[in-house]
Amino acid sequence: MSIAAFSVPLMALYLCGQPSLNTRIVGGQAAPPGSWPWQVSLHIYDHFCGGSLISDQWVLTAAHCVQGRDTVPSLVTVYLGRQRQEESNPNEVVRKATQITIHPNFSYSTADNDIALIRLSGPVNFTSYISPVCLAASDSTFYSGVESWVTGWGNIGDFEPLPSPGNLSEVEAQIVGNGQCRCDYSDQGYIRITDNMICAGFQEGIKGPCFGDSGGPLVSKQGDRWIQAGVVSFGVGCAEPKFPAVYARVSQYENGRNIILKIILRPAQLSGSAEQGKYQICHENQPPDQFYIFQGNNYGRIILP
Ligand SMILES: *[C@@H]1O[C@H](CO)[C@@H](O)[C@H](O)[C@H]1NC(C)=O
Ligand SMILES: *[C@@H]1O[C@H](CO)[C@@H](O)[C@H](O)[C@H]1NC(C)=O
Ligand SMILES: *[C@@H]1O[C@H](CO)[C@@H](O)[C@H](O)[C@H]1NC(C)=O
Repeated sequence: MSIAAFSVPLMALYLCGQPSLNTRIVGGQAAPPGSWPWQVSLHIYDHFCGGSLISDQWVLTAAHCVQGRDTVPSLVTVYLGRQRQEESNPNEVVRKATQITIHPNFSYSTADNDIALIRLSGPVNFTSYISPVCLAASDSTFYSGVESWVTGWGNIGDFEPLPSPGNLSEVEAQIVGNGQCRCDYSDQGYIRITDNMICAGFQEGIKGPCFGDSGGPLVSKQGDRWIQAGVVSFGVGCAEPKFPAVYARVSQYENGRNIILKIILRPAQLSGSAEQGKYQICHENQPPDQFYIFQGNNYGRIILP
């Protein structure tokens, strides 16, 4: 971060997007422990990207973080409930990745569809420090100027790592409409802002995601829930003032009443009810998993392969 069984009850047993320890209204800088309980840190020897917990066994991240790593997912270690990258983390739980699924239409050169899923080696119990975020439903709209937050352990400047002990940092951002964002990037000929992207900029000077923040969540509070609108994807430098940061637009991957990430899974894995608030995906020989999706005023649990 630069300072610069299957059918689903409507009310999930554990509600997404409700951190018990987050009382935050404004801020910036180091995040108090438990503020962002869905934030995860991905490691291969060291931290390389962020991600967000969306169920007890699945993590959402950016495709560019894990491209080429999907063949040997076990190289990736996932830290949940982590507050700092150095010293102890009393509330931490560790898992290996057992499956990495990258959006089939992800393009490294255009950053389109920069979204991927990681399956954890085992489910986690939710705590005050580990709990899932809600995902933006396909009908969600994030208007220009909407307040949002982005979190991560990235650099605080192009060549400036997060100072010791590497506390999770948070920064407030405002959604920038795609029209404005296209204009902002129009003289960067090689970058095209697609409908699969959402942009967010920062009010105070130079703030924004930087190297190491990729894959992490952009969240916005709607009512009493935190909803993930974006996945940190790219920017020009680290938060160049003129350029809002660009995120994969989570709502693009939730298709009406179906599951958010159905795109990433084979269509054959999809089945089940289309009833509002009910979602079901089945896969032979696999125990069910659950996703938490925010849809209007309904909070459904999603069962996934
Ligand atoms: C989750 O909590 C249950 C009940 O306390 C316990 O039996 C189980 O071992 C825990 N699972 C994990 C993965 O920690
Ligand atoms: C890191 O977090 C700890 C505990 O939350 C806090 O006491 C410390 O001041 C923070 N350090 C920095 C450099 O932000
Ligand atoms: C990938 O792109 C192709 C060609 O545009 C399209 O037909 C297909 O539906 C896309 N796949 C997904 C999962 O979006």
